Amino acid sequence: MSKSSEISGFYKLSPKERLAIVKDFAGLTDEEAALLEHQSALPLDLADHMVENVIGVFPEPLGIGVNFLINGKDYLIPMATEEPSVIAAASYAAKMVREGGGFKTKSSAPVMIGQIQVVKLPDPEYAKNQVLSRRVNIMKKANDQDPTLVSLGGGVIDLGTKIIETSMGQMLIVELFVDCRDAMGANAVNTMVEAVAPFIEEITGGKVYLRIISNLATRRLARATCTVPKEAVGGEEIVNGIAYASAFAQADPFRAATHNKGALNGIIAVILATGNDHRAIEAGAHGFAAFHHPYTSLSSWKKNPKGDLDGVIELPMAVGLVGGAVKTHPIAKIAMKILNVKSANEFAEVLAAVGLAQNLGALRALVSEGIQRGHMSLHARNIAINAGAKDKMIDLVAEQMIKEKRVRVDRAKEILEELSKNQQ
Ligand code: MEV
Repeated sequence: MSKSSEISGFYKLSPKERLAIVKDFAGLTDEEAALLEHQSALPLDLADHMVENVIGVFPEPLGIGVNFLINGKDYLIPMATEEPSVIAAASYAAKMVREGGGFKTKSSAPVMIGQIQVVKLPDPEYAKNQVLSRRVNIMKKANDQDPTLVSLGGGVIDLGTKIIETSMGQMLIVELFVDCRDAMGANAVNTMVEAVAPFIEEITGGKVYLRIISNLATRRLARATCTVPKEAVGGEEIVNGIAYASAFAQADPFRAATHNKGALNGIIAVILATGNDHRAIEAGAHGFAAFHHPYTSLSSWKKNPKGDLDGVIELPMAVGLVGGAVKTHPIAKIAMKILNVKSANEFAEVLAAVGLAQNLGALRALVSEGIQRGHMSLHARNIAINAGAKDKMIDLVAEQMIKEKRVRVDRAKEILEELSKNQQ
């Protein structure tokens, strides 16, 4: 008989009780269940307060990107990722960039956009004017929701309106522009737009449905640039290759998606390690890549008159030092301490630099030996672990598979058996 996933009151159970249900449902072994329950740096009862229906915690490798010099300051970059080569590639690229003086970065004020959707308007123009004529009043109502943010110099700084054409007719979209200071801002912004919505309904005579932050944070951009000496990147041919790769990504959305994924490999690893909202960053990045034009690359690389490589990346970066898991997750707190950034702006700029480094690392490999060589040794170690290798055997099995150019679980098992026999 198939088991049902409809479990009434699941949320009311303790993590242990939930795990027992899941264990039964999924046929987990005692060992697997014990692994899920394992008390890690994120204790189960804290995890249980962070999200719903908790049964365990999910650890990821946490590594450190080294060599980062950004605006003359040295950083160690905490990166959580399951993907081999990401941390090594970022560190290698940061070293190349360092030889050209490091990254230079900039960012705009930490302003997020909150949207209020007004529909069923007999006269959208009239409604728009009603909103605009009460602009100050609406902004005040919104700011009253968050006196702390206002006392820190943040809060609503402006209000905008737009009438859009949709498949369900014209809609008035009211936008609040909120300076979120050192917060990512979703909570502050969502509270504000929810609070002013009834007043907007009242003055427009329309119906408000959505009241929510936009992740396309075009007013909260971070930018990083660098110049990599041609000798550092591997010579003229590599510089040319990277410039061609960049032109390809600018012109072709299919390539741009992968190009941007490469930059996000680094950015998201830091976002994960620091307990920030990685979906918000990814949504913002891809939204921005398609803003005003067909989807394109977030970074670009050009050969400069000296024959060196100039790189630039710009993207929305809605990150915070306060709120969410940043201040609750024990490892995120340590990661933030390692990162040692003093403001959300500095954090955003470091992330842009990490994205540019990661992108450079990927492109350098792609235009020369390809990414498989770099991936292979770590991939081979994963395969060796998969085949049951432990401790010293992991490297021995991996090396043998690479030598034979046969990186497969079946071969790993054979090698493991041979090596184990020889050791007896
Ligand atoms: C792999 O995770 C990322 C790359 O595909 C990025 C790129 O192609 O630029 C190597």
